[in-house]
Amino acid sequence: MFKRLRGILRKGNVKDGIDNSEDYLEKLDIARLPAHVAIIMDGNGRWAIKRGMPRSFGHRAGVKALRQIVEASVELKLKHLTVYAFSTENWKRPREEVNILMNLLVEYLHKEIESLCENNVKINPMGIISELPQHARDAVAMAIERSKNNTGLCFNIALNYGGRTELLMAVKEIGQKLLNGELEFAKIDEQAIANHLFTAGQPDPDLLIRPSGDYRVSNFLLWQLAYTEFWLTDTMWPDFNKTEFFKALLDYQRRERRYGGLLHK
Ligand code: IPE
Ligand code: IPE
Ligand code: MG
Repeated sequence: MFKRLRGILRKGNVKDGIDNSEDYLEKLDIARLPAHVAIIMDGNGRWAIKRGMPRSFGHRAGVKALRQIVEASVELKLKHLTVYAFSTENWKRPREEVNILMNLLVEYLHKEIESLCENNVKINPMGIISELPQHARDAVAMAIERSKNNTGLCFNIALNYGGRTELLMAVKEIGQKLLNGELEFAKIDEQAIANHLFTAGQPDPDLLIRPSGDYRVSNFLLWQLAYTEFWLTDTMWPDFNKTEFFKALLDYQRRERRYGGLLHK
């Protein structure tokens, strides 16, 4: 079933000195994979500084890790993958770093669009795209247009995304619809709110992965994470790989999700 992936892993194993990725893969129950995985791609800067390199070096290495995880998600036939690439708070960083991140985004989308489309991946940017620099907006528009008919992995890229901004926008849209008489007050329920978020129509994440050793949500998917399982690791994002990903998925499969209720055994 995972013949191709095993091949990739075998090659990867030699390079990374990891010898147990296949073990994790073998143990995964394909029928119980999460429908939606969300990842806070954190730790690029620290990874680079530790190596005496500029932070931008870490961001570039982080793109490589992303490529691996998207590839694994496609191979596993995951339905939804959401990655946090740039938050509404990341504008606080030096202009030069912001520019580097935007350039990397543009480069990533142009380089990867072909292979993403070959793999039937649909790109869904989440965030206030209109505030991005023009070249980033153009690349995002290109990626949306080229992948719009794809039916495989829904690849949400959180760009200029903030959970509070997302909720604020939803509240405003709902308020506007009330004022316009397009929505009845009694019809405002949890589903109505979910329908006004960037993730409208998608299931909530089953699993949230945060590398880098920080234990916080950093304004990511505040509504959607209500019953998400968290998986935290000290590994920095550039070192995150398929083995770590499978480890997280396997750990997820061992969790007992109760949603506030009781499991009768
Ligand atoms: C994540 O890595 C990338 C973005 C936030 C854009 P960081 O740049 O936050 O790296 P650290 O957390 O400083 O190590
Ligand atoms: C979260 O990482 C945002 C992204 C990974 C894009 P940050 O590095 O911005 O989060 P904090 O500042 O450590 O909370
Ligand atoms: Mg960080």
